[in-house]
Amino acid sequence: MFKLPDLPYAYDALSPVISDKTMRFHHDKHHATYVKTLNELLQGAGKNPSSLEEVIIDASRGGEKKLFNNAAQAWNHTFFWTAMTPRKAEPAGALTDAINQSFGGLEKLKTAFLAEGVGHFGSGWVWLVAEKGGALSVRSTHDAEDMVTHADVTPLIVCDLWEHAYYLDHQNDRKAFLEAWFDALPNWDFAASQLAASKGEGSAWRHPGPVPGESAQAA
Ligand code: FE2
Repeated sequence: MFKLPDLPYAYDALSPVISDKTMRFHHDKHHATYVKTLNELLQGAGKNPSSLEEVIIDASRGGEKKLFNNAAQAWNHTFFWTAMTPRKAEPAGALTDAINQSFGGLEKLKTAFLAEGVGHFGSGWVWLVAEKGGALSVRSTHDAEDMVTHADVTPLIVCDLWEHAYYLDHQNDRKAFLEAWFDALPNWDFAASQLAASKGEGSAWRHPGPVPGESAQAA
């Protein structure tokens, strides 16, 4: 069974862009519920997967919509927490080169990221990804749709576009949230390691695996 991963920083570490209150609801309620439902579905089906990536890919192929939604949302949220940092930094090295080549600079990447996120209808996620061949692009996915089933790309960063991610702090102003988020919170060191992995240097991030003996109720 899968365990809700702890946040890699304090609940209030991303404030004021994302408040302590939002983080407590988002991680302890929304993310926790995806993990709990995932475990219940796996247990009910007698499944004993070796990784969350395996669950997502199998559920997608098999058309198991509820299992896919909860597994992918569990993955997306852990990736989201990991791809943020309270220690503001700028992209560097090969990541800067890739951003310059694909977008013409960080400000133009920001413009593209905001346009995609603001223009995305309804719930979902906005991603910066590395495509095979090294080019970077911005994409959005609907609802729980993930990047695990998009084997042609490696995700570098993501921002949650569900209203639960920003409504308490920014109300309906998704653009203000995305702008503040982009300026302060992306973990560019993490993005750089993902970019390197996309080129065969090291391993791309994977979700923590299942914990032997954990029951669904313990999640
Ligand atoms: Fe979320």
